Amino acid sequence: MSYTNIRLSKENSIATVTIHRPEKLNALNKATIEELHQVFSTLEKNDETRVIILTGSGEKAFVAGADISEFADFTVEEGIQLAAQGQDLLFNFVENLKTPVIAAINGFALGGGLELAMACHFRVAADTAKMGLPEVSLGVIPGYGGTQRLPQLIGKGRAMELIITAGMIPADEAYRMGLVNHVVPQAALLDFCNGIASKIIKNSPLAISNAINAINANYKDGENGFETEIKSFGRCFGTEDFKEGTAAFLEKRKAEFTGN
Ligand code: COA
Repeated sequence: MSYTNIRLSKENSIATVTIHRPEKLNALNKATIEELHQVFSTLEKNDETRVIILTGSGEKAFVAGADISEFADFTVEEGIQLAAQGQDLLFNFVENLKTPVIAAINGFALGGGLELAMACHFRVAADTAKMGLPEVSLGVIPGYGGTQRLPQLIGKGRAMELIITAGMIPADEAYRMGLVNHVVPQAALLDFCNGIASKIIKNSPLAISNAINAINANYKDGENGFETEIKSFGRCFGTEDFKEGTAAFLEKRKAEFTGN
């Protein structure tokens, strides 16, 4: 499948998805959201891919937000639909993907861009990156999960301040708040993320997807995370990966996981 607004490369079970609309600072228009849905969905079904790194094209921006030109004249109903479809197709979809997704924030991550990074399983930022949810400066609020995920990651008070001041924070401040896990020089960003991905791919893909599901359960309405953990824990016992992982330990050798 060929894509217009994204680039895809693969090496050693690690896929890198690059959002590529550099002339618009990689802003998320409808077509890009649909292509991202398509690529994540395809990669998740592809057993070869164990980790996905998501980044933006160029040095300036990860994603400078939802494409403002597309929704500037929307009605109330269209606004509701935009947020609902986006959350469904991309943001919730990424968060619940079985394959871990690392956001490599290479520059501006604003509005929908930061919301997308927050939907990823964790974030690494270049030292040049800047982050914020400036929607209230446009007369709107974050609609792709930002009002929910930002407080989850940095706490309610800090999220409230950042959102209602439409503030923009540099990478080191995002690190101090726990919004990103690491800050590295821009030129080293992808190598650094590949280094983390190389550690992830040594582990059982099935156990990883169960861990993602159990961790996410804590943040889902009406779901008891402890119960989900118990079920997921039990499910692991029925997998080849579990047999292989425990056998390899007892036989003092490296485990070869197949994801079955
Ligand atoms: N939607 C649509 N187009 C966008 C965009 C967005 N979110 N962010 C940037 N662009 C476009 C600009 O319109 C410009 O296009 P043009 O050359 O056709 O006019 C191009 O990307 C370059 O952006 P520009 O504003 O000229 O770059 P800059 O270096 O002066 O400023 C930013 C960079 C990120 C500070 C600025 O682009 C910005 O504030 N973007 C919007 C951020 C935002 O509010 N996001 C939340 C949306 S809900």
